[in-house]
Amino acid sequence: MANAQNIVKQNVAGAFFVDQTCISCSNCRDLAPQNFEDAGEFFAVFNQPANAVQTAQSLDAMVCCPVGAIGIKSENKHQFNLKKATESVPKEIASSQGKVFYLGFNSPDSYGGKAYFIKSNSGNWMVESPKFTRHLVEWIKSQGGIDFIFLSHRDDVAQASDYAKEFGAKRIIHREDLDAEPNSEITIEGIEAITYGSDIIIIPQPGHTKGHCMLLFDEHFLFTGDVLTSDKEGKLAQGRYCWYSWKVQQESLQRLSAYKFSTTLPSHGQSVVASHSEMQAQLKAIVSVPHQ
Ligand code: SF4
Ligand SMILES: [Fe+2]
Repeated sequence: MANAQNIVKQNVAGAFFVDQTCISCSNCRDLAPQNFEDAGEFFAVFNQPANAVQTAQSLDAMVCCPVGAIGIKSENKHQFNLKKATESVPKEIASSQGKVFYLGFNSPDSYGGKAYFIKSNSGNWMVESPKFTRHLVEWIKSQGGIDFIFLSHRDDVAQASDYAKEFGAKRIIHREDLDAEPNSEITIEGIEAITYGSDIIIIPQPGHTKGHCMLLFDEHFLFTGDVLTSDKEGKLAQGRYCWYSWKVQQESLQRLSAYKFSTTLPSHGQSVVASHSEMQAQLKAIVSVPHQ
């Protein structure tokens, strides 16, 4: 729970604050971009919520903060319905027609990476892993459980083993990153894409790590792991970190242009929503500029 005695000094006065346990994962800015911003060593509340939408987004940021670094001053708590805020997560992704959800409750074990849930015609999928919470377990049960847990790469396995055990789900990870989740039930090999049912394609995209993969759902939603994120203009950008090879990542992204997608759902950063053709143009712009 956030501690008002340990507050980040850049917070503006008001109900919401960030304390110094913040790990600078940026998830609060992704969820409430009008209110939270990078303050250097930590994130901070730069603007207190000014309307109902910003209040709801700031409450989402608080519920989903991986380390509980966001708080509401005790004298203001009566103004907010915290139980309702918790119950409002997971969140349906716009335009998914009830098929894709952001699960919230980001795990500190994946440095606050986002996890998602897909209702596919090959079964229910968890993409990456959130914290293992009773609230999420009950919500997932209400959706019919989990058949597969897709792990994009070694950094984001978090509590996948707990969810696999709870739901009898099969974990999927590339062989090159298998040591991060060694008891995974399914391993991906090489760089050939693999199809599940008629609407899921797993696309190996080595670079960030040797075994990084993406998942494409319904020729629409691309779960990009740590390879693609968004820039300040809301366009596609490569993630800041690369642990294996920028050159190999560049080659992977060239292969990605063979696929149609119009919404990216990254582990870190905001979604990019664009037409297929605009997305291809943005991808091309990234691929044409080699990373250092
Ligand atoms: S979500 Fe929490 S840990 Fe992440 S940047 Fe915001 S306050 Fe810090
Ligand atoms: Fe990563």
